[in-house]
Amino acid sequence: MTQEELFKKLIAHCKEYGFVFPSSEIYDGLSAVYDYGQNGVELKNNIRRYWWEAMTRLHQNIVGIDAAIFMHPKTWVASGHVGAFNDPLIDNRDSKKRYRADVLVEDWAQKQEDKINKEVEKARKRFGDSFDEAMFRQTNPRVLEYQQRIDSALQRLNSALAEGRLADVKQLIEELEIACPISGTKNWTDVRQFNRMFETKLGSVSDDANSIYLRPETAQGIFVNYLNVQKTGRMKLPFGIAQVGKAFRNEIVARQFIFRMREFEQMEMQVFVRPGEEMQWYEYWKQFRLRWHVAMGFGADNYRFHKHEKLAHYANAASDIEFRFPFGFKEVEGIHSRTDFDLGNHQRESGRKLQYFDPDSGQSYVPYVVETSIGLDRTFLLVLSSAYCEEQLTKDDGSTDERVVLRIPPALAPVKLAVFPLLKKDGLPEAAQKIMDELKFDFACQYEEKDSIGKRYRRHDAIGTPFCITVDHQTLEDQTVTIRHRDTMAQERVPVSSLRSLLTEKVSLASLLRQI
Ligand code: GAP
Repeated sequence: MTQEELFKKLIAHCKEYGFVFPSSEIYDGLSAVYDYGQNGVELKNNIRRYWWEAMTRLHQNIVGIDAAIFMHPKTWVASGHVGAFNDPLIDNRDSKKRYRADVLVEDWAQKQEDKINKEVEKARKRFGDSFDEAMFRQTNPRVLEYQQRIDSALQRLNSALAEGRLADVKQLIEELEIACPISGTKNWTDVRQFNRMFETKLGSVSDDANSIYLRPETAQGIFVNYLNVQKTGRMKLPFGIAQVGKAFRNEIVARQFIFRMREFEQMEMQVFVRPGEEMQWYEYWKQFRLRWHVAMGFGADNYRFHKHEKLAHYANAASDIEFRFPFGFKEVEGIHSRTDFDLGNHQRESGRKLQYFDPDSGQSYVPYVVETSIGLDRTFLLVLSSAYCEEQLTKDDGSTDERVVLRIPPALAPVKLAVFPLLKKDGLPEAAQKIMDELKFDFACQYEEKDSIGKRYRRHDAIGTPFCITVDHQTLEDQTVTIRHRDTMAQERVPVSSLRSLLTEKVSLASLLRQI
């Protein structure tokens, strides 16, 4: 199965098992907007809690806030989003389709990259075991030519965008002979800038109502509150503020399911530090955030850092944590050293002093900021795409079967324990219900009595439930149950009285937090 086929199956699975639905589906959906179903919301809540506890509970100097989505319009002038949160757009006159000009060039570069990879694979087959890939990439004339074309095109694109030379971006698209994927023609309009913030009106009478924006990042709610928190919490530098909340971006290129959405959730943390100490904290947070990811158990080699050469308008250093999604390595989180850009601009725009008085040095200054910013929905996709697994099974009688299992880390699974009575009679449902009633205060449990035990196992494999217990006639005699483990499918008999401690050890968030 190709990665593309696997990804399609995952999307269908998300819908079939109540993880993610297209938004307003009865009206044929809304592009790049999604709703989370009964299992999706539990998984999302668990990921959010894992992040929140790791950031606030494991760091005594980090506290949380929950700022409003609506903010004073001047916020977005100060942050630079009114002036610089733009996408360069271009239209094809024949298909009437609109594209991000930079994505057209990046897709072209990807095609050249694919050609290089094909050359490498051909050479690998030709030379067998003696093949030295690094040497081949450094010396093969055809590979070097492709690479040179990629580097030169991306360099021209980046400098034209940085300097606002949109006519040069169009010229590059024409020189590279990029055609519209729909019409196949190269009949392009000029490139224009398009702001990605959603605008709406505040106030009841639309004529005199003020234009405001839906926040495109949660970070600004933290910046404008930093002195409130510092003063009321008597915080000393370095200290951080964490927040989880919705952000909105009018994305033009919306694809890959919940990877790029127009309404999404961010988990952001800004740590305020002494100027000059930002690089040390930037390095600390890069490493801490990577450990947070790796602790989930999806393989350290599926992550990598990508250092930004082209920096956002607010940063003096930035790296992404990229993950190997089914469609390739892509950003899941950004770690940015934002200098005093935001606080300095808010100070100017608001006319209020945003300086911190440092009791150690006796000086007042605007702190520098290092931020970690991760998409909750993107992390959700990371977890599900890594957890999704189709397995061929051989039964005791030699026949074969198949199961789909979500190997979600137990601490994040939507349901921790499924409780099944073997039969719907003989007092077994009551005994099962009694166990549920005792454990439901500690764990998300689900009671199921419909269908065969095998079918019930499959249903819970498909939503990632790490443990299922079966209550049978022996339970009534000796107070033991059969516990079945999701990943190994192994079954063992355990006393009912041991369930709480057994589960706590395996499914508690603490077990995950300890691994960071
Ligand atoms: N405050 C910094 C900031 O917003 P960003 O790199 O634009 O930085 C941070 O966004 C993270 O938010 C990304 O790494 C990604 O996980 C998530 N994100 C950004 N745009 C998104 C979108 N359209 N849909 C889903 N997640 C998105």
